[in-house]
Amino acid sequence: MNEDANNSPRPKRRARYSGKNPRRFDQKYKELDPGKHPETVAKVIASGKTPAGAHRPICVSEILEALDPKPGQIAVDATLGYGGHAEELLRHIVPGGRLIGLDVDPLELPRSEARLRHAGFAPDVFTAVHSNFAALAKALATLEIPAVDLIVADLGVSSMQFDRPERGFSFKQAGPLDMRLNPSRGEPASSLLAKISEEKLATLLEENSDEPRAAQIAQAILKHRSSLRQTTDLARVVRDTMHGNADAETTVRRVFQALRIAVNGEMSALEAFLRALPACLQPSGRVAILTFHSGEDRRVKKSFKDGMTTGVYVAISEDVIRPTAQEIHSNPRSASAKLRWAIRA
Ligand SMILES: C[S@@+](CC[C@H](N)C(=O)[O-])C[C@H]1O[C@@H](n2cnc3c(N)ncnc32)[C@H](O)[C@@H]1O
Repeated sequence: MNEDANNSPRPKRRARYSGKNPRRFDQKYKELDPGKHPETVAKVIASGKTPAGAHRPICVSEILEALDPKPGQIAVDATLGYGGHAEELLRHIVPGGRLIGLDVDPLELPRSEARLRHAGFAPDVFTAVHSNFAALAKALATLEIPAVDLIVADLGVSSMQFDRPERGFSFKQAGPLDMRLNPSRGEPASSLLAKISEEKLATLLEENSDEPRAAQIAQAILKHRSSLRQTTDLARVVRDTMHGNADAETTVRRVFQALRIAVNGEMSALEAFLRALPACLQPSGRVAILTFHSGEDRRVKKSFKDGMTTGVYVAISEDVIRPTAQEIHSNPRSASAKLRWAIRA
């Protein structure tokens, strides 16, 4: 504690404005403190952007229509994220209902838990669980819940994770080449890049993001791998390989997506989740899954179709459901979303 020579406490220093051009992400975006700056948040949303540090839930009305939540039901949000879908579901299942929110990210989970508590959802109504959705059955068993009425999953990464450069998901802001959803497990992207073969990297780019120039890009990345320190180094190598091609940014985005999927074992987690679903759903229970990549959608579609054939499901979405043009316009991050649902026999 600081005290003046005359023993009276020194007045607290006023936080200084750090200049006209703030240098750090958390200084730059007022939206990171939405309570203090609600007008900034409203302005950002109206301009078709997502407030920094927040996440706007996608296909909310389509998911509510598919799940048809009712008071008293037990729901799982397998990918809690910012809690947008969870909050919508909670509003429909109270009174009497309960939602279990899973997320593999130990950094964002407590923030979302606090946000939902602040929104009025007490522990008897909302439980946050740090878990991979691949272990859904185990998470429910720990809570002594045999099966639930509703399950939603919204795959991938949230805006908050992209918006924190230190997580390594963003190619726009410099950060470590990490990309782990759970930074205390597995290996960061830098380790993967340090030892992967060119052939394997090309396959990974093709399978995880349909990258048409996979071989060329894999070769360029590995040629420069000793100089890849930060996310922006990787982005620069990919851009340089594209020689000013108009698609360069899309290619950078695809490379980051493919690496992130590999670093987090996202495809195998999805497969385990799809296998676990029938046993975790009550008879007539419903599941809705939002995907953002053809590899994910293919797996969901096949699993639901197979479930119809074997009688595990009684109904599935005939076609994939897409966000409306209006939603894509107001939230461009929704553009590649695809929704499918199924109802348990
Ligand atoms: C697109 S966000 C979900 C956003 C959320 N629906 C909302 O409205 O705020 C995806 C979330 O799923 C989490 N996630 C990704 N893979 C996961 C997995 N295998 N198990 C559990 N959570 C996962 C990510 O950490 C991220 O928070």
